[in-house]
Formats: sequence, C-alpha cells, structure tokens
Amino acid sequence: RESDINIVKNSIESYPDFPKPGVLFRDIFSLMKNPKALEALNKLILEEVENMVPKPDVIIGLESRGFLFGPLISLQTRIPFVPIRKKGKLPGQVNKQTYELEYGTDTVEIQSDAIQQGQNILIVDDLLATGGTLQAACKLVSQLGAHVKKCIVVMELLDLNGRRSVDAPIHSIVQY
Ligand code: PRP
Ligand code: HPA
Repeated sequence: RESDINIVKNSIESYPDFPKPGVLFRDIFSLMKNPKALEALNKLILEEVENMVPKPDVIIGLESRGFLFGPLISLQTRIPFVPIRKKGKLPGQVNKQTYELEYGTDTVEIQSDAIQQGQNILIVDDLLATGGTLQAACKLVSQLGAHVKKCIVVMELLDLNGRRSVDAPIHSIVQY
C-alpha cells in the first residue's frame, strides 16, 4: 500500500506558475503516462470503495477529470456512473448549483432523474483545492434527496483546507 502511494505520488509532475504566476500545478495526466502508476492508483481507489458499508448505489464523477476515474471504478464494481457537469452540457431536466470562484461564480448540473431519493452516493474527482466544486456537488446530491457517503480525490492541497468547506467525509490518496 505504501509503495502504491509512493508510485502514484512520484508520477504526478508539478509545474510552477501554471496556469498563472504563483500556482504550483499538479498534473494528473502525467500519471497516466505510466500504466504501473495508474494500476497502483486504481488499486488504492478500488480498495477504498470496496471497504464502504453499505456499498454505494451510484458513483458520481465531476467534470472533467473526475471522468477519468468514475467509469474506471464503475466498471470494476458494477456500480452505475453518473456525471456532474458544468452548466449547459447535460440534456433533459437538470438540477443546478452555483458556487463561488476566486473571481465570479460557476454552476454545475446533474440530470434530475440520474439519482433517486435515499440513495447512497460516492463522489470521485482528481483534486481537492478550495473544496468549492466538491461542496456544490454535495449540494446537488442533497437537492435530490440522496446522501453523499464518501468523496474520493486523488490529490489534496492541504494549504487550502478545502475539507473544511465540504459536508461529507473525504479520502485523498496523496497530499501536498
Ligand atoms: C479542477 C479540479 C477539481 C476542481 C477543484 O477542475 O479537477 O474539479 O478544480 O477545485 P476546488 O476544490 O477549488 O473547487 P476545473 O474546474 O479546473 O475543471 P476541469 O477538470 O474541467 O479542468
Ligand atoms: N492541479 C490541477 N488542477 C488544479 C490545481 C492543481 O494544482 N489547482 C486547482 N486546480
């Protein structure tokens, strides 16, 4: 387990001053160039999901990098996958949730019939920064009367204390 975490962490490359000065950008796609690292990450996420009691009814992935992991875990656990997307991209009736960005706001959406009242939900994404995105996703789930049992993120940026803003338990695979 420790060696799986190390191979994951060592495969994520960091880029200073991207996308703007002062930001140290952690690039999840650098890990995808190394199938051994992807395999280790898959194992770590799967282990965490398989330890959930009860088993989640639905896995939600957050656009866009949550889509790298949600379907992967869905395929192996046979738990249905549902997307949360930025506004205006999902067809049919949707529920919406607006959240604060550094400058301005953004809106995320879920299809209103995608999850049912009372269901247990797992949310996956690549990264926890301020927690704004994850908390908006949690609110969408509760709008529909379902419960976020756990959030799994690959990377957590500890300085930003995003956890504090999210009303659900969070498991991160690597921390910076
Ligand atoms: C990034 C990241 C998370 C979110 C985390 O996505 O993939 O979803 O930001 O930030 P927060 O904790 O401060 O909300 P982004 O909005 O850049 O979208 P993308 O994955 O489509 O590039
Ligand atoms: N990496 C990827 N996405 C991000 C980051 C990061 O370091 N910070 C905010 N979004």
